[in-house]
Amino acid sequence: MLSVASSLDGYIDDMTPDRLLLSNDADFDRVDRVRAESDAILIGAETVRRDNPRLMLRSEERQKARAAQGKPTNLLKVTVTRSGNIDPAARMFHHHVEAGRPLVYTTVDGGKKIGDDLREVAEIVELADDELFWESLLDDLGNRGVGQLMIEGGTHIHTAILAADLADELHYVVAPLLVGQAGAPRFVNPASFPGGSRRRLGFIDAITLGDVVVLRYRPKSVSSEGTDQ
Ligand SMILES: NC(=O)c1ccc[n+]([C@@H]2O[C@H](COP(=O)([O-])OP(=O)(O)OC[C@H]3O[C@@H](n4cnc5c(N)ncnc54)[C@H](OP(=O)(O)O)[C@@H]3O)[C@@H](O)[C@H]2O)c1
Repeated sequence: MLSVASSLDGYIDDMTPDRLLLSNDADFDRVDRVRAESDAILIGAETVRRDNPRLMLRSEERQKARAAQGKPTNLLKVTVTRSGNIDPAARMFHHHVEAGRPLVYTTVDGGKKIGDDLREVAEIVELADDELFWESLLDDLGNRGVGQLMIEGGTHIHTAILAADLADELHYVVAPLLVGQAGAPRFVNPASFPGGSRRRLGFIDAITLGDVVVLRYRPKSVSSEGTDQ
């Protein structure tokens, strides 16, 4: 499941060093609920470097509810890197890691660049650097018992997952901001998406939360019944 918040003009951040908050409190609570229903959460290495999120559940009630179901109170945390340039002190490796050591997926070359300090706080998983990278990553997570993975960006990750036709759901929040900075990150980069520019994604629903709208779609070009949408 892909989750993103975008400005009205299609940007997911601005050019300032501080993280741009696009959602409102009601929507952050919705995201927290969806996180609580998930088994793992994934972000790209650049989002780790820029935003340094903890990737934890905000609500103690939801943490307790997960514990009552026999689940870890927080989700398994996952990131991906080719460069190996991830600070072992990043907050995702130290806050609320009840689900076990976070996972860092990388390529075989990337594995050579990862030092012992990152290996101490995370499990490093090396995959072939080919077009099956993302399928292999999802298969590996599935083998670890992850049924629902929440992918929270950024641009490169969302682009890769959509181009590989691997997302069952897209939760796209439209926030009433105009960023207006050409160099700011967008939801996705140019790519060859399945079906091209004429294919319409399957619509699930739209809900309004205060001043934001949450649009939910089924992005896969082939539905689970095996028919083209
Ligand atoms: N509004 C929102 O909902 C939202 C959510 C999340 C993030 N964001 C924003 O998105 C921006 C970051 O987006 P981004 O596109 O620059 O970065 P990103 O998608 O967070 O991370 C990209 C990085 O992931 C690694 N990677 C990607 N594909 C890989 C592969 N196949 N194998 C191994 N590693 C791979 C690489 O890391 P290395 O460079 O280490 O090799 C790559 O540079 C930030 O401004 C952040 O604030 C916004």
